[in-house]
Amino acid sequence: MSDMFYINGGIVKKEEARVPLYDHGLLYGDGLFEGIRTYNGKVFKLDEHLDRLYYSAAALMIAMPVAQPVLRDSVLELCKANNHLSGYIRLTVTRGTGLGLDPKHISGTANIYISTEQLSLYPAELYETGLVMVTASNRLPPPDVIDPRIKCTGKYTNNIQAKLEANRKGAGEAVMLNAQGYVCECTGDNIFVFKDGVLKTPPSHSCGLVGITRNTVLELARKNNFPVEETLMTQYDVYNANECFLTGTGAEVIPAIELDGRKIGSGRAGALTTKLIALFREHTRESGVKF
Ligand SMILES: Cc1ncc(COP(=O)(O)O)c(C=O)c1O
Repeated sequence: MSDMFYINGGIVKKEEARVPLYDHGLLYGDGLFEGIRTYNGKVFKLDEHLDRLYYSAAALMIAMPVAQPVLRDSVLELCKANNHLSGYIRLTVTRGTGLGLDPKHISGTANIYISTEQLSLYPAELYETGLVMVTASNRLPPPDVIDPRIKCTGKYTNNIQAKLEANRKGAGEAVMLNAQGYVCECTGDNIFVFKDGVLKTPPSHSCGLVGITRNTVLELARKNNFPVEETLMTQYDVYNANECFLTGTGAEVIPAIELDGRKIGSGRAGALTTKLIALFREHTRESGVKF
C-alpha cells in the first residue's frame, strides 16, 4: 500500500489523502489514467505513458494543470518517497470537481492523483501454464464513439462487464471484439498470436488501445528478427494459432492457451512466446528512468 500519495501538486500521507465527493471522475467517469511499472528502482517507459496521458487529455479537452516535465518529476519524487523498487504506479487525472455533467460547473483545475503499490497481477505459475480466455459478449466502442487511443476511465465500464463474464465462466481473461467482429484486445491487455513463425497482432486502428507493452514487444520482436504483421484477426485466427500471448503493463507478457473451449496450439505456453517473455524481462532490467 502507498504510504504517501501525490494529490494536486503535493505529497501527502495516506491518512490525509482525500478525494472530493464531486470529483468528475467519480461522478461521471470523466477522467484518464495510466498504470506504470517500476522495476529495480527504475520507472519503465515513463515518457511513453506520460505522452499517452497528455495526448488523451488534449483529445478530451482536459486542461492539464502542470506541464509534462513537472508531472514527470512528481512521479519520480513519489516513487522515491514510497520506495517500491519493483511495483506499480497509478496516475489518475479527472476533469476537476463540480456537480453536474456540464464542465462549465467545474471550479478550479483538473485533479491529479498518484499512488504507488507493490503489485503482481497474476500468480507466477500462470506465466508457465498460461491463461484460459473466453470471448466477451459485449463489443468495444467504435472510433466514432471514442477513439481507441484515448485511455479514459469511463470506457472501462465496458471492459469490466467483459471481465465479469470471464470470471463467471472461470476464465482468466476475455477477448474483446470490435463492432465488425474483429479481435482487438482483452480487458486490460493487447493480444498477439504466432502462426507459422509469424508474430501477428491487430492494428491499433481496429479499436484496441495502443499498448506500451505491445509496442515494446513489437520492437523487441523486430530487433530479434521475428517476422511481424499488424493485421486484422478474427476468433478463427486465435483458435488456429500455434501460440498466443497477451501484453500489458500489469500482466507484462503472459501466455494464453485456450479461447472459447478451443486449445491454442499445443495448449501450453509456446517456445516463441517463452523466448519473447525472456527478451521482455531482460529489457525491463536494462531500461527505465531511475528514481
Ligand atoms: C484495454 C487495455 N488494452 C491494452 C492494455 C495494455 O496497455 P499497456 O501495455 O500500455 O499497459 C491496457 C492496459 O493499460 C488496457 O487497459
